[in-house]
Amino acid sequence: MPLPKAELHLHIEGTLEPELAFALAARNGITLPWTDTEALREAYRFQDLQSFLDLYYELMAVLRTEQDFADLADAYLARAAAQGVRHAEIFFDPQAHLARGVDMATVVEGLWRALGTSRERHGVSTRLILCFLRDESAASALDTLRLAEPFLDRITGVGLDSAEVGHPPAAFREVYEAAAALGLRRVAHAGEEGPPEYITEALDVLGIERVDHGLRCVEDPELVARLVRDRVPLTLCPLSNVRLRTVDTLADHPLPAMLDAGLMCTVNSDDPAYFGGYAGDNFDAVQATLGLTGERLRELARNSFLASFLEDDEELRASYLAEVEAYEFGAAVS
Ligand code: ADE
Ligand code: ZN
Repeated sequence: MPLPKAELHLHIEGTLEPELAFALAARNGITLPWTDTEALREAYRFQDLQSFLDLYYELMAVLRTEQDFADLADAYLARAAAQGVRHAEIFFDPQAHLARGVDMATVVEGLWRALGTSRERHGVSTRLILCFLRDESAASALDTLRLAEPFLDRITGVGLDSAEVGHPPAAFREVYEAAAALGLRRVAHAGEEGPPEYITEALDVLGIERVDHGLRCVEDPELVARLVRDRVPLTLCPLSNVRLRTVDTLADHPLPAMLDAGLMCTVNSDDPAYFGGYAGDNFDAVQATLGLTGERLRELARNSFLASFLEDDEELRASYLAEVEAYEFGAAVS
């Protein structure tokens, strides 16, 4: 039985496996520029975040109907459940779909077909987080929030993603204030490729409650001290960092040093179809390559539930935390 965990950094569009992409393309009468799934997988060699994003946005063309979004999310939830994910807070990128003529209702209602039945079908509780694209304008983000207002019973929070460098968080102050006024929780990608200053700015200007990635905080000791003091969760994605060349190899990942420094780290998958693994694969990889002990893995799992937006169901959080504490590691983990 895998270690129970929450997934807090997962782009649903990044769970689109090549097989499903081709199946949806056929269903929607779309011709993809790759001959088959193998040729598509060949394209998964990224130099940096932008080279990944180019393919990520291109492949979204196959997502057109509510059922497409439902099938995508259901496939993710089944895989996640098999790897011990008990709770998933799922990002989606509505602007990438609106730009292709797919409306907000299609995206949210489609995702909800899967999310709304996930606890019964997969034993996974879920929350939905709407992300704004930081390489689009702040006005576009505000328009997107307005379009989402009819669906706020389905949406827990807002995030900020896409190309980071050159797109600091402060431009999105107004939309984050509006989101907070609507009762939405706030997170943002910061310090993935961008400098530590973007993390500080996202905390100070956007009022974020978790930092997505946050990896580059290690370059700023004062920021590390603040994140430790305030117990600000970081949603790290180790296999993503290797594939996008944010770190040279997994063995160079600063996760062990970050835990030793007292940072509230969590381990997540980001875009698992593209980066070689789901949440459990990321846990297995850091255990095998970075030599994390069972108690460190338990800390990561505990942090994932403590950092999750389960304030509306503390009983559920407590039951997940009890599962983490009771978990017994096999002989392979020291
Ligand atoms: N959108 C999907 N994955 C992303 C990532 N790793 N960073 C920024 N935006 C993203
Ligand atoms: Zn991400």
